Amino acid sequence: MFNYYVTSLQARDFYVQNLPLLPEAESTIHMHAGYLPVGSKNDGDRPRTIIWLNGGPGQSSLIGAWTEIGPFRFLDKNTIVTNNGSWHFYANLLFIDQPIGTGFSYVDRGMFIKELYVMAEHFLNFLDRYVEIFPEFLEEDIYLAGESFSGQYIPYIAQAILEKRLLLKLRGLLIGDGWIDPISLYNSYLPYAIANNLVKNDSEIYTNLTQIVAACRQILSRQVNVFVSQCYYILHQIMNNGIIKAQDVGNTEDSCINVYDIRLGAKKPMCGSNGPSELEYVSAYLNRQDVMSSIHIDGKNSEWRAFTRLIFASFRAFNSRTSVQLLPDLLSKIPIVFYNGEYDFICNHWAAENMLDNMTWNGASGFDLGNGKVAPIHAWVVDGESAGSIRYARNLTYILFFNAGHMVPYDQARRSQAMLYQFIQLNITYPNNQIVDNNHKKVNQNTHHSLNLLIYYFYLIRERYKYFSRRNISTPYFQLFFGHFKTLWNAESYHRQLQFWTKQYGKIYGIYEGTHPVFVVSDPDFLQDVFIKQFSNFHARKITMLDSVSHNIFFTNGSEWRRQRQVINPSFTTTKLKTMTPLINQSINDLMDKLSHHSNNSHEFNIYLYYKRLTMDIICRCAFGIDIDVQNNPNHIYFKKVEEFFDNNAVLKSPLFKMTQLLPEIGCILGRLYFTYNTLITYINKNILPFLSSTKQFDESPFMWLLNRLHTIVEQRQQTPTSRSDLLQLMLQVMTQQPIQNLMENPIKSNNWLSEDEVIGNTLMFMIAGYETTSTALAYATYVLAKHPDILKKLQNEIDEFFLNNDIDDEKIKEYFDYDTITQLSYMDMFISEVLRMYPIANIAIQRRAMENTIVQGINIEKGTIVHADIYSIHYDLELWGPDDPSIFIPERHKIKRHPMSFLPFGAGPRHCVGMRFALMEIKMLLTKLLRQYTILPGEQLESNFNINEQAVIAPQAIWIKLVKRET
Ligand code: HEM
Repeated sequence: MFNYYVTSLQARDFYVQNLPLLPEAESTIHMHAGYLPVGSKNDGDRPRTIIWLNGGPGQSSLIGAWTEIGPFRFLDKNTIVTNNGSWHFYANLLFIDQPIGTGFSYVDRGMFIKELYVMAEHFLNFLDRYVEIFPEFLEEDIYLAGESFSGQYIPYIAQAILEKRLLLKLRGLLIGDGWIDPISLYNSYLPYAIANNLVKNDSEIYTNLTQIVAACRQILSRQVNVFVSQCYYILHQIMNNGIIKAQDVGNTEDSCINVYDIRLGAKKPMCGSNGPSELEYVSAYLNRQDVMSSIHIDGKNSEWRAFTRLIFASFRAFNSRTSVQLLPDLLSKIPIVFYNGEYDFICNHWAAENMLDNMTWNGASGFDLGNGKVAPIHAWVVDGESAGSIRYARNLTYILFFNAGHMVPYDQARRSQAMLYQFIQLNITYPNNQIVDNNHKKVNQNTHHSLNLLIYYFYLIRERYKYFSRRNISTPYFQLFFGHFKTLWNAESYHRQLQFWTKQYGKIYGIYEGTHPVFVVSDPDFLQDVFIKQFSNFHARKITMLDSVSHNIFFTNGSEWRRQRQVINPSFTTTKLKTMTPLINQSINDLMDKLSHHSNNSHEFNIYLYYKRLTMDIICRCAFGIDIDVQNNPNHIYFKKVEEFFDNNAVLKSPLFKMTQLLPEIGCILGRLYFTYNTLITYINKNILPFLSSTKQFDESPFMWLLNRLHTIVEQRQQTPTSRSDLLQLMLQVMTQQPIQNLMENPIKSNNWLSEDEVIGNTLMFMIAGYETTSTALAYATYVLAKHPDILKKLQNEIDEFFLNNDIDDEKIKEYFDYDTITQLSYMDMFISEVLRMYPIANIAIQRRAMENTIVQGINIEKGTIVHADIYSIHYDLELWGPDDPSIFIPERHKIKRHPMSFLPFGAGPRHCVGMRFALMEIKMLLTKLLRQYTILPGEQLESNFNINEQAVIAPQAIWIKLVKRET
């Protein structure tokens, strides 16, 4: 814009005597124009100039002067009023039309600038001339400010000034809704659109968009330019085909999403890029002859245009680095404010936040403050109102403006002025600064207090929902407060839903359980880091209401878990398990007796029921040494209570449990309430109702009922010691009444003891964890055998051969069972593994909670975040389980060594299933005896009643088969 060849001109040659239509009161403003700065009204404590640049490329900075930060605004074509939010209250303003050819500036056609570094050199030339005419500029503090594509200009110009014009006092930068980092921007469009309901994730456009996004990512992985037209296509598709939010425009053929403010209506093809409606008046005004004369436009280019398309077409910056790469160096020298309007789509705040989260400057990454702390996000209050949020770290401030689109000072002039004031006073880090308004009135904060609290609460929730967008992690559509719970609670199967989303969002994506972020992961390397390599950071599971009341290794965490697990592990060693085989054998023999009544070609029955009774018998015998003989007494009260626990999901589906899922923070309180309520009921049933001669009893929850009975069993066991070798006995040997110390850091030194509550809690846990899981595994195994006679035959051959080689005839089988037998059946091993690969049972437990802030595979994970393994996707992943189709049952595929995290039916790492070997022993012992004697045939109802159902475990409804006695 500056005329390079005119050096004899002086400041007075640019002085604006009068401007048509200006309000009377504003005659004190000093303006220079043509090639102009606009004089500050209140010079304040020190002289300073803000250089303002609009974007484009090709947008005139006079848009900023007349609709954003300048002293005047148009009310209508002929009325100009004062802008109380103008920035000139605190600084001189200098609006520069550049790159050359923009707005009033002019150049011959072939001389348009194409690159950012060339633009920066031109800018320095301009400043040199400017200083010649306005030498006082050298004494002023200079700030560069602007929006949109000036996110590219400003860092380049700043770098050039700091390196080459050391006499200029560049003090800081303000970049609003900047086009800075194309990767963050292009990656943000789809998640922003979904989060703002512009696109639904089950729509056709969504499917198309995922393909375009994938193509864009491919391109970005190869090369990143300032503009990538294939990636811009994402935005283009959404703006033309997305859901229009503005109420007033309807949804006609030519309506589209306003990409500069999603709240507003827009028409194709501009879709918002024509700017605010006042621009029409600005354009008419600036093109008036008298106005042009006043501002010394001398006719070379007598037409003003808000946007010069030719500049946009020429300025492609193909050979320029993107400005994001300059920011770290700049931040080491001067402070920068980045600000964004929440409703801007084209340069949206998700992208800005993601860019900053991933940027490293002044010795750390993102808003990291070191020592595992991150910079807090404060509510930003201006004039007593909640204006947005603010965050500060190491010379960088980020402000999110509520109720603003792409042109923040246009929508929120006063607040943008407050931001400037705080910045140039360099106290912007104090977020709740009450700044004095133009009339210097104090605002009474108290009147807004409760409203602020509410706003702040919603603000916090909204902030939480940015967890994944900030990390550029995709997330399916979710609802405020519930997150993804509504979908998950209504889904037939939680884990099938996760698998469905994995197909759409990839191996690492995010969901919100309530407001809590959960990474859903089927990337084995990521999981290996979480479950094994970084176990010390991920040693807990999700918070549940049972955590504080159940005292067992499943529900405790940290050092308490470590101690208990250390004490309990030895109970499941081979040596200890061997001592339990007679107890298991006894229960299996009972089952074989029962089954003999069913062995008949035409008779079909549901064997799953028998398996449940069997595993209940076994676990009661092995865990706490009571022979409840459920197989002969299916109505036994213990069995009924455990069944009740699983069938009704008495705890898992209870409203209290759901409340804990939504608000884990209060899980501990809810757990205690649940515990106190049930203790009270037990007390009333036991001590008050008999006294009142009442025959009625209050219902105790099955969980609490079992816990109370176990107390009695333990008391009895203490009074009458036994030589039984069961899990309870093993735990009683390490029980103490003394206080117990937990030492996570030095487990060796920890007390290897369990408290009485822990002995009881763990015994109950074994009962619950060992009953339904193992019977369900047997059920699936039987289903497969009924459907695959070839596999059944191979198994029988292996078993027969083993018995033959070891000279064990049918007579001996009954008494016989040796732990070593089952370890020699290799096909059996592969068979069971394949059953558990195709039919994993306890997926719900395979998750971890981050106990510290950490980084996994380059992704920042905050303390408290959950990582949930998507077992179905892993177990059916062709890359992990190929080359044979993973949907086909092939035991032999387990001969090949796979990725350690490709097979997770028992979880992984130090917290994997403690009862795994016990369960496998049970399953193998039963199958060996069963298949030695019987052949399994499918029942008529096998398929129709298989129906896999997911509650606490993923289990079939029934397994209808026929048993045929084998000829031996
Ligand atoms: C086929 C049968 C079984 C399956 C599929 C199974 C599966 C699982 C899974 C997936 C976990 C979570 C592991 C993780 O977070 O990495 C788990 C944990 C656990 N299982 Fe099993 N389980 C079975 C049998 C048993 C048996 C028989 C017992 C007890 C006798 C048992 C006791 C436990 C306990 C106490 C935990 C918690 C371990 C901890 O947090 O330290 N499970 N099980």
